[in-house]
Amino acid sequence: MTRKRSAKRLLPIGIPLLLALLVGLTVSVYFWQIRLQKPSEINMGDHRHHSAAAVGAGMHEHAASGVACESLVAGEASGATREFDLTAARTELRLDNGKTLEAWTFNGISPGPELRVNEGDRVVVTLRNEDIEDGVTLHWHGINVPCSQDGVAGVTQDAVKPGESFTYAFVAAAPGTYWYHSHQMSSIQAKKGLLGSIIVEPRNPFGLAPKATEVAALYQRLESAVLLNGSTRGLKVSVGPGETVRLRLTNGDNETMNFSVEGAPFQVVAMDGHDMHEPGLLDGEIVPLGAGQRYDLLVRLPDSGKVVVRNDAADNLPITLGSGSEPARMEGLKTFSFVDYGAPVPNDPLPPGEPDRRYELRLGQLLFVSTINGRSFHEIPPMTVKEGETARITLVNEGGGDHPFHFHGHTFRVLSKNGNPLTGSPVYLDTLLTKKGEIYEIFLVADNPGLWMVHCHNLEHASMGMSMMLNYEGITTSYRVGTKSGNLPDL
Ligand code: C2O
Ligand code: CU
Repeated sequence: MTRKRSAKRLLPIGIPLLLALLVGLTVSVYFWQIRLQKPSEINMGDHRHHSAAAVGAGMHEHAASGVACESLVAGEASGATREFDLTAARTELRLDNGKTLEAWTFNGISPGPELRVNEGDRVVVTLRNEDIEDGVTLHWHGINVPCSQDGVAGVTQDAVKPGESFTYAFVAAAPGTYWYHSHQMSSIQAKKGLLGSIIVEPRNPFGLAPKATEVAALYQRLESAVLLNGSTRGLKVSVGPGETVRLRLTNGDNETMNFSVEGAPFQVVAMDGHDMHEPGLLDGEIVPLGAGQRYDLLVRLPDSGKVVVRNDAADNLPITLGSGSEPARMEGLKTFSFVDYGAPVPNDPLPPGEPDRRYELRLGQLLFVSTINGRSFHEIPPMTVKEGETARITLVNEGGGDHPFHFHGHTFRVLSKNGNPLTGSPVYLDTLLTKKGEIYEIFLVADNPGLWMVHCHNLEHASMGMSMMLNYEGITTSYRVGTKSGNLPDL
């Protein structure tokens, strides 16, 4: 009786108190996040001393004198030199639905020009910034360029300010579907339009495959509109029955896109630019494409003449191959998995035995903050490696959405999913889509000395803290992230 009464008396004080506490907590987490996002000055090459993410492997002290990231440049190319100019500018962009947007463009368009080069070419791109106040950079997503060419503001260079320019040079060593985007305030600048496709065509394009018509399809979100190669209406490819199309799909948005192919069976012939070994025919499977990922689909047109590739994120943006009768809509299909797709390669070069390093990265969320092992951004201890070492990294998605996890400078191999080793084709990626509850083990060879960002490619998550470094011992940078320099790569 008395207890009840006192509880009742406490209620009027208790509720406001609780509310005040909640508001206080929310506000402080909010400011914590702002402080994390905008530190005053951080050297991303020099916070290696705490290595809490390391599991087992011992940390080695590195020599005090280092090699500057800036000094690591491209070697000789076997192919031609291909030069491009990309100028970033504020643009009133008129879409093909008549609407006008305040966009940021390369050479007046968004996406920027599709760059096509050949395997082995030396690619030289001069970036100019006309009037993007915060500065811009170019990051070559998926291409393993030398450290100085990686385009990360505050790590590999300063953001290129209005009136300035920066010339990138690298060798396009591996054929495949890649893309480029600004890595200064990436979550803002990619959405404003500063991105585009770069395709590295293989020297021997038709080695085993039949001759195919090539189409690159880049999806992006420009402000709130999803566009396909800059269009609001989808894409039409004129091909005839019996012809084969290689469709290079790139997800430049922040959310996973689920593709369906209606009207013909198809193959996933490459993921993130890397060919699959003996990819089988798929019929009606949904292909989930994480943010930042690329899938190359090979489709042979049936006699009926028409195939429609749809994407659940934008029903208005179908890719129509050929003409003829409309194929039946597909729904409720099973989802493609690379875990047992294709066939293993004979004499698989997978290195046996213990890796030199082991890391575990738990991807999660804390109120407004996206975290790795419970920490955010520069508070996350970097992974450290030495050139020539091997690393096994466990990725655990503990929630907060899909986390398409991206490594700069490296192609990694997926070893297992939820404890089950892959049984089909080897899978090499630069961005791995992880869904809640999933656990992956990946393997990489430390073969590209530098200071490399590793982050979720839902760039909103990266901007909220899900971004860290893979640092080689002994590599230094003179650039700084923070409000002082104005370099904020993932804001
Ligand atoms: Cu496309 Cu650091 O990313
Ligand atoms: Cu994420």
